[in-house]
Amino acid sequence: MMRVLPEGMQLGVASAAYQIEGAWNVSDKSPSIWDTYSDIPGTIKDNTTGKDACKSYEYYQRDIAMLNFLGIMFYRFSISWPRILPNGFANKISKDGSTYYNNLIDELLANGIEPVVTMYHWDLPQSLQDLGGWTNPLIADWFEDYARVLYDLYGDRVKTWITLNEPKQIGVYGYGATRMAPGINARGIGEYLSTKNMLMAHARAWHLYDKEYRSKQNGKIGITIATDYREGMTDDPDDVQAGIDAMDFEVGMYSHPIFSEKGGFPERVIKLVGEKSKQQGYPESRLPEFTKEETEFVKGTSDFYGFNHYSTKFYTRKTYKEGIYPVPSYDDDLGAEWSLLDYTPAILPHCTEIPHGIRKALKWVKDNCNNPPIMITENGFGTLSGLQDEARISYLVKYFNSILDAIEYDKCNVVCYTLWSIMDNFEWDSGLSAKFGIFEVDYNDEKRTRRPRASAFWYKNLVATRSLKPEYRPTLEDISF
Ligand code: BGC
Repeated sequence: MMRVLPEGMQLGVASAAYQIEGAWNVSDKSPSIWDTYSDIPGTIKDNTTGKDACKSYEYYQRDIAMLNFLGIMFYRFSISWPRILPNGFANKISKDGSTYYNNLIDELLANGIEPVVTMYHWDLPQSLQDLGGWTNPLIADWFEDYARVLYDLYGDRVKTWITLNEPKQIGVYGYGATRMAPGINARGIGEYLSTKNMLMAHARAWHLYDKEYRSKQNGKIGITIATDYREGMTDDPDDVQAGIDAMDFEVGMYSHPIFSEKGGFPERVIKLVGEKSKQQGYPESRLPEFTKEETEFVKGTSDFYGFNHYSTKFYTRKTYKEGIYPVPSYDDDLGAEWSLLDYTPAILPHCTEIPHGIRKALKWVKDNCNNPPIMITENGFGTLSGLQDEARISYLVKYFNSILDAIEYDKCNVVCYTLWSIMDNFEWDSGLSAKFGIFEVDYNDEKRTRRPRASAFWYKNLVATRSLKPEYRPTLEDISF
């Protein structure tokens, strides 16, 4: 059945600085934690780094030509903190760094494409990590200073700001494990310290905008939270509770302080981490709670809900035993195990096709976050190669159907959809071999030539016709950028 996209629902594509820019040490740019981390042997599955990536710093005009080819309305990209502020601190603004984003923003606007700008997509200046990074509460000051620089430089033209991309991935994988930069293995501690500081930093940037910039710049500002869905493995009440708890740990930890009436961390998270901490002999809970003032300060600090979604996991406590996860740890605090049931895992399992999950996740946000305007800031599918990417198209068709169900039947307030990603890029710990692009990038070519995959033609058609035709498959044409 053909379905028409709601009027006003905007369509765009996304990328992030470290994943596409390259030029890691040009001019006065200083290293980010990803430059450092990807140099450590064994951290990146295919031993690549993002130091050159797609060379978008050099070839951004081709990126704009690709956006024009698609006909999309907005482009979500991120700004590299160490490129703008080589010291990490706001005492010195890089001339070349700030010019790069100036040119990018101006050319997007000249082409009728709205810039949607993420202020932090994981590439912290290494110099700030050396001072503790996101585990140091002073980072809220540093982030606010950085935010002010961005509003001053670009706020006359940028009308949509995203403070942080996916705090869970930053905290849990970066500070409570070694899977991502900076790879601080402070399990059960580092993820909670950094989470509180990230939320405080986010709120500082929001209040600054709200007080000093909103009336003259007239933009909006919010946060993007990884909102994959979690549910119980079966209808058994214990499993159902495990699913609810998993949603509170994975999503509520970040959304509840900002979007709920009550504010602060979700009650179940406070209870579970508190109880485990006590059993383990910690004098205080490993989860640092918000004070009353902080709770009030963080509440209500997002003009929209930035929603990233790839897949769903199913939880149970029946098979969980103490000792299957490191103690203490985030996984042990949740105290449950997950599986994909009998869904066939995708080549990159974190985007396994479970389309009903996106509808449930959107409904969860509506019900738990005060029915906010939802910007889908990422959704997409990873492959390993090929221009004929039927698996990606099939995933996108099913997920779009499910999003339309959420809008039409559940009345979720979805204002835009952003496809991840415009082109192949450095997929963090999976390196350059995991490919999320609707454009292929040839890394063997100095010029990083880009070619549209079948999915790029498919998306172009969706943008032009605004109708979802499940059977429609485009013909691949040999075009390059
Ligand atoms: C991140 C992206 C990443 C994508 C695909 C998201 O978690 O924001 O940077 O490339 O997932 O794995």
